[in-house]
Amino acid sequence: MMLDDQSQYVKTVSLKKEQIISYDEFPFTLPIIKYLDKLSLHPNVTYIIGENGMGKSTLLEGIAIALGFNPEGGTQNYQFSNYDSHSQLDDYLRIARGANRPKDTFFFRSETFYNVATYIEELDS
Ligand SMILES: Nc1ncnc2c1ncn2[C@@H]1O[C@H](COP(=O)(O)OP(=O)(O)OP(=O)(O)O)[C@@H](O)[C@H]1O
Ligand SMILES: [Mg+2]
Repeated sequence: MMLDDQSQYVKTVSLKKEQIISYDEFPFTLPIIKYLDKLSLHPNVTYIIGENGMGKSTLLEGIAIALGFNPEGGTQNYQFSNYDSHSQLDDYLRIARGANRPKDTFFFRSETFYNVATYIEELDS
């Protein structure tokens, strides 16, 4: 089933180029970020694929933080921090959302899922 345009939570992600002062600093040194322009997400699912180290995780992390998620993952209510090393990309992303808002959201991030699982255990105990 193809979802209609209005039910899509995130439609486009674009770079606020006018606010970037220098392309000599990470993450703007990465071509995937530097030439981002506007990314249109598919209404159903979008795959981001590419070589190791090209910046997929950096981009996804930036989108997640711009949407209000904790960099390490979890729901938007998880605001713990074990390892604060995220880039400032989120400040430079403009996110266009659809009319509908999700009831539940979760940023599932494999790199730091151990931290999220530990946090959930702490909440439970
Ligand atoms: N804080 C940082 N400062 C400078 N460079 C960084 C920083 N974080 C990541 N990098 C570099 O940016 C590049 C992109 O990293 P990223 O983890 O986003 O790539 P990736 O596409 O997700 O790779 P993989 O397929 O291995 O998961 C890598 O060369 C990485 O070493
Ligand atoms: Mg990665």
